[in-house]
Amino acid sequence: MIRKTIRSGIVGCGFSGTFHLHAARRVHGTQVDMVGVYDASPERARAYAAEHGLAAFEELDALLDRVDVVHVCVTATAHEAVAAAALERDRWAIVEKPLTGYFGDGTEDFRGDTCPKEPARIEALASVRRMLAAEERSQGRILYAENWVYAPAIQKEREILEKTGAQILWMHGEEAHSGSHAMTYAHWKYSGGGVMIGKGCHPLAAALYLKRVEGLARNGKPIRPATVSARTHALTRLPEFRDEGHIRANYHDIDDFSLMHVTFEDGTTATVLASDIVLGGIHNWLEVAANNHRSICNINPNNAMQTYNPVEANFRDIYVVEKTGTKQGWSFPSPDEDWFTGYPQEIEAFYRAVAYGEPVQSNSRLAADCVSTIYSAYVSAERKGTETPVERL
Ligand SMILES: NC(=O)c1ccc[n+]([C@@H]2O[C@H](COP(=O)([O-])OP(=O)(O)OC[C@H]3O[C@@H](n4cnc5c(N)ncnc54)[C@H](O)[C@@H]3O)[C@@H](O)[C@H]2O)c1
Repeated sequence: MIRKTIRSGIVGCGFSGTFHLHAARRVHGTQVDMVGVYDASPERARAYAAEHGLAAFEELDALLDRVDVVHVCVTATAHEAVAAAALERDRWAIVEKPLTGYFGDGTEDFRGDTCPKEPARIEALASVRRMLAAEERSQGRILYAENWVYAPAIQKEREILEKTGAQILWMHGEEAHSGSHAMTYAHWKYSGGGVMIGKGCHPLAAALYLKRVEGLARNGKPIRPATVSARTHALTRLPEFRDEGHIRANYHDIDDFSLMHVTFEDGTTATVLASDIVLGGIHNWLEVAANNHRSICNINPNNAMQTYNPVEANFRDIYVVEKTGTKQGWSFPSPDEDWFTGYPQEIEAFYRAVAYGEPVQSNSRLAADCVSTIYSAYVSAERKGTETPVERL
């Protein structure tokens, strides 16, 4: 096969912009021509461009004119605007999670923890609808950068479902660690919510994806979420919280613990936990209880490697695993953390979709179901866990 060349750009030169670039540089099925980068902060764009040997663009439009696909790695508040600009020019948009959301009313004293959640849900879904409509009008497509879908353990589970015709009865999963370091993460207005959207979107997307796979495999139709019951808490903001310095504790107006219990159209279930209060390194897993098998999909930590280190200082220059608190004693170094997390597989698949029209596992429909489920979950949490319908767009 002749490898096609795809011209590409990165918008947003921060944390995710960096791992996207690393993954794009590992793509082998197509030739990626990384044309340049753009960031709302010209200094950040220039510094990033210089570090990675790329061109920095001063206008988004100028970059869009030169590419086939853009990585939308900007703060979630700007996902819609940047993706829509790309789609309008018939470009493909690789959009980070969450697809979009509700980012407050713009007032100085807006608080996400006390704002009414039904209007928030309606506004978030209006944003989703605008993005789906922009995609509809475009020759380009939204590629939803949900790496959990492409994590090797989740793709292996997909194979099991497709080949055995399994019915999933219950999934439970979690994404947790001791707190994101980004300062903006403390504020609902930048992230569209707290940990329930910031981290919960990952295991939720994997669960929604696997039920889609199950439905398509057996009946040619995805099985979609129908209702959700949820609870959220702000444990590190409790007056009684005893801060010993291991867990981040300076959030402004967001939840740091959440639980979503989803029922699907066929009555089966998924339970998703997300929190910022778990020590011992990042904890990402999904367990599948099906009628003919049971799988535990470990994303992180993984026991591909286990190392005992008697002296903390010995591992000074050794990366072990995300968010680990100590490298002394037994640890689970991830020999290729990006690979276990699904980043290179995701970006490889997206470039193949752009170049050769290969089907997309993580698309705008999955992304829309995630946003809809999460904002219904915030409505449910406001009502202390009342079962709440999930609108299917
Ligand atoms: N999949 C994952 O594992 C993962 C991990 C981290 C972050 N994310 C997602 O990536 C997105 C970005 O997060 P991050 O951690 O990279 O943030 P970041 O703050 O490190 O970087 C965001 C960059 O976007 C730029 N920016 C903001 N608005 C812009 C606009 N309108 N136009 C151009 N540039 C703009 C900022 O100047 C900044 O440089 C978020 O949606 C987040 O949820 C995903």
